[in-house]
Amino acid sequence: MRLNDELSKWDRDHFLHPSTHLAQHARGETATRVIRSASGVHIEDSDGNRMLDAFAGLYCVNVGYGRREISDAIARQAQELAYYHAYVGHGTEASITLARMVIERAPRNMSKVYFGLSGSDANETNLKLVWYYNNIRGLPEKKKIISRWRGYHGSGLMTGSLTGLELFHRKFDLPLAPVLHTTAPYYFHRDDPDQSEAQFVAQCAADLEELIEREGPETIAAFWAEPMLGTGGIVPPPEGYWQAIEPILKRHDILLVADEVVTGFGRLGTMFGSDHYGIEPDLITIAKGLTSAYAPLSGSIVSDKVWKVLEQGTDENGPLGHGWTYSAHPIGAAAGVANLKLIDDLKLVENAGTVGAYLTSEMRAALADHPHVGEVRGEGMLAAVELVEDRGRRRFFDPSRKVAAKVVGKMAEERVIARAMPGGDILGFAPPLSLSRENVDEIVGTTVKAIRAAGL
Ligand SMILES: Cc1ncc(COP(=O)(O)O)c(C=O)c1O
Repeated sequence: MRLNDELSKWDRDHFLHPSTHLAQHARGETATRVIRSASGVHIEDSDGNRMLDAFAGLYCVNVGYGRREISDAIARQAQELAYYHAYVGHGTEASITLARMVIERAPRNMSKVYFGLSGSDANETNLKLVWYYNNIRGLPEKKKIISRWRGYHGSGLMTGSLTGLELFHRKFDLPLAPVLHTTAPYYFHRDDPDQSEAQFVAQCAADLEELIEREGPETIAAFWAEPMLGTGGIVPPPEGYWQAIEPILKRHDILLVADEVVTGFGRLGTMFGSDHYGIEPDLITIAKGLTSAYAPLSGSIVSDKVWKVLEQGTDENGPLGHGWTYSAHPIGAAAGVANLKLIDDLKLVENAGTVGAYLTSEMRAALADHPHVGEVRGEGMLAAVELVEDRGRRRFFDPSRKVAAKVVGKMAEERVIARAMPGGDILGFAPPLSLSRENVDEIVGTTVKAIRAAGL
């Protein structure tokens, strides 16, 4: 048997994949793609196919693949000190340096960072800190969390509850009770097609306020949101959205948790999405771009305001009862230090802004008039093309036709990887921040070709 055939059999027999149709995969109805190597913006599979990765893995390989600066830092760290824990005040040169680098780059009023391993566990940490915060303040009833439909915050029990995508709840008995969902800031999908953008923003704000009043503001602890919707469709917020939402939260003493797992460290052309939209969060979640996925590491960034209460809490109750064996793992931290240096040295935040704008404008120029393209949208190095059955009447395709998945399949045949986003026929693009204009031309050309090849 060829190695690939053997791997493919072992894979079907033994590997339970995340986010996969398990039965079809085990029966061999979907292919196993074994990825062998990668360099720059390209990955290569074990059949020797070289592909432009226009989704940077899962929008995480922000500096691109094969960066020696990071792999050397990882190797050095593994040899010098592969592991030591961070409990009871222990640290390593890498984890302490990274904490300082993160806070230097974070929006103002941020004070400390707790390091975990994934976006999901960092959100879980922030959830616990929110509850602890209100318990210490003597507000034990103030515990419910509001997130948005189409938000993505992970797939644990509480983080999967925060996620506002039905697939992540179905048959898992989620969402859990303390989580409530409000309107997604997705103007293209508004219920009333005649509504102006300003009217839609006013409705999002009114829906939120109504939910808070109905539940009782004294029961709502936090509002959880990505500065710009990612997995739920790659949707920049409508004009004025954050300016309408933030005062409502302040008025009701509700913390704002910005989930910057995708937007943190440059993806929108600014270091943080909160800076991009002028938001002032109380807590921030980071992961992906922190190490560009060279090693697993995430973080929960805590503002001065929350930190003061945490200090009071441990003075009153003793040490914080929260931590993982691998919190602030030195290898992840070493990768993070090298990665953040590289982002600065190569000016990747600026590149995400300029080349990202070129990606969206070229996509718009090529496709905005296409009869089956409802919308082309983007911000920084994030872009989406939404396909519709009838553009004039904004009629969506029947989901069973899986139109976006077909287009993405055609793109893969042409050696460009895009992602079919859930909840619509949406082609998603989130390339490495190091993308060049030539890469953009290839991505746009291939998208146009694949839409045609899919019969649209
Ligand atoms: C905004 C956001 N938050 C949280 C997560 C969860 O991160 P992880 O998959 O590392 O648990 C993701 C993952 O895509 C995300 O996009």
